[in-house]
Amino acid sequence: MRFTVTDLLNKKKQKQKITMLTAYDYMTAHLVDEAGIDMILVGDSLSMVIQGNDTTLPVTMEEMLYHTKIVVKSTKRAMVVADMPFMSYQVSVEEAVRNAGRFIKEAGAQAVKLEGGREILSQVKAITEAEIPVIGHLGLTPQAVLRMGGYRLQGKTEEQARRIKEDALRLQDKGAVAIVLEVIPKELAQEITESLEIPTIGIGAGPYCDGQVLVIHDLLGLFEKFTPKFVKKYANLREEILKAIRQYKEEVEKGEFPAEEHSF
Ligand code: KIV
Repeated sequence: MRFTVTDLLNKKKQKQKITMLTAYDYMTAHLVDEAGIDMILVGDSLSMVIQGNDTTLPVTMEEMLYHTKIVVKSTKRAMVVADMPFMSYQVSVEEAVRNAGRFIKEAGAQAVKLEGGREILSQVKAITEAEIPVIGHLGLTPQAVLRMGGYRLQGKTEEQARRIKEDALRLQDKGAVAIVLEVIPKELAQEITESLEIPTIGIGAGPYCDGQVLVIHDLLGLFEKFTPKFVKKYANLREEILKAIRQYKEEVEKGEFPAEEHSF
């Protein structure tokens, strides 16, 4: 049985931390599921870590569906959350519901995630009314990178903090089952977490959130372009992989591989 929305809400009530990681393919999804992580986010971050783009903006619905299908097929236990890509929910409520439905019906996801607050409340309400669990995303919302002028700490001023707090309550009111809080001060994240009945899942939002999420490539030390302050690298796989590939190259060039035991 997969981790459900009821499990998610129970964890908050029982003050147990919720774990979430991104995954985009068979190998990462299978490993994350086997390790017992509660929720897998097929993040639009795949635009950067899989496709090599500079932002999350270019990834399409069809590409997100492709990766979500693979992640669902490769897992048994975790709740799979599909990230709705840029322009798949902003244009109209109807389009938002139709696209959210595709993630459930065609890809087998159990929930969708949308970035934004007051400007997408109608979409959150309508998707929820279509019986699809919605996860909100406030603070640093990477799809707003052009307006924000970069990936910066949000909620620093009183006005910004007030807006984020209000948006969190409004998302909960429209039916969101959890909210990702990205790159905001830890005190603000704590205040929001304490004000909500639904869980908060933090990334760069300090220790007081109900759960934590990281991009798997950051956690494993596989992404070299930049490392945000909030990332902890639990491994340095990029170095390990480079070492292995260089050794293979050297051994092939020297005629040491394949050896007798690899030959028929
Ligand atoms: O796309 C993503 O990976 C995300 C996380 C950073 C929360 O939205």
